[in-house]
Amino acid sequence: MLDNIPEAQILQQADPDDSDGDGISGRPNWVWDVASQQKVVGRFGWKANEPNLKQQIAGAFNGDIGITSNLFSQPSCSETQADCQTATQLGDQPELSDVFLDKINTYVSLLGVPARRNLDSEPEQQGERLFYQAQCASCHLPRQLTGEASVHPEFNNQRVHPYTDLLVHDMGPDLADNRPDFEADGQEWRTPPLWGIGLQELVNKHTFLLHDGRARNLEEAILWHGGEAQQAKEQYLAMEQSDREALVTFLNSL
Ligand code: HEC
Repeated sequence: MLDNIPEAQILQQADPDDSDGDGISGRPNWVWDVASQQKVVGRFGWKANEPNLKQQIAGAFNGDIGITSNLFSQPSCSETQADCQTATQLGDQPELSDVFLDKINTYVSLLGVPARRNLDSEPEQQGERLFYQAQCASCHLPRQLTGEASVHPEFNNQRVHPYTDLLVHDMGPDLADNRPDFEADGQEWRTPPLWGIGLQELVNKHTFLLHDGRARNLEEAILWHGGEAQQAKEQYLAMEQSDREALVTFLNSL
């Protein structure tokens, strides 16, 4: 679904110079699309540094487990990894064939988003109101409309609820990794989608959050928000305890 949100729509949601004066200025990360050999808007990865799901997958094969493909034909070795650099491939074909890569792309594309739970109950509804009030929804955009470009017709023209604008935001010095990636600087991160986040513990058996897993739960993740999200965090801190709990209960319903 995220692959199929039109680039024009992502750009329309950007506000690089904060012209509406709400303190939030998301901007796109323009990244290199290896297949089409051009700059496009990034949408996957912690800094939105991958343009589409297929390149994200091929990049993971190459960078995480050292398997080459037509998109990334050279092994990913650092300067000091001499053995890695001299290791030869088996034959001159990439280790991962296009057919295999396409199959994995299809599989990952078709993984369903879990349905929301407890939609009509309190405190979920109260938490949802607070989510808007505290400006969380300005970055974690609740609704997006998919386009018509997917090879899976059922993905076209769908209203989806990913809770992300797919833009990068300055999150302040405390979250910085000082490691620029294409146009995202060392303090900027992509708004991560929140759909499915309430099932993280059940599925992944842990509740670590944020780009380096430093937050031990949802509340800690909110408390690390700074930079453009400083105001939202302060609104959270100013809430009554029961409201803070309602907001977290809402997040757990996603
Ligand atoms: C200025 C944009 C912005 C605002 C406003 C904002 N967030 Fe975020 N949020 C982000 C970004 C960017 C990250 C990722 C930061 C990182 O990984 O270092 C994030 C991460 C999170 C995470 C962790 C997700 C994960 O997968 O690790 C949660 C939960 C979250 N935000 C909830 C909220 C809530 C609740 C509010 C309102 C109180 C809020 N956010 C306001 C941009 C924003």
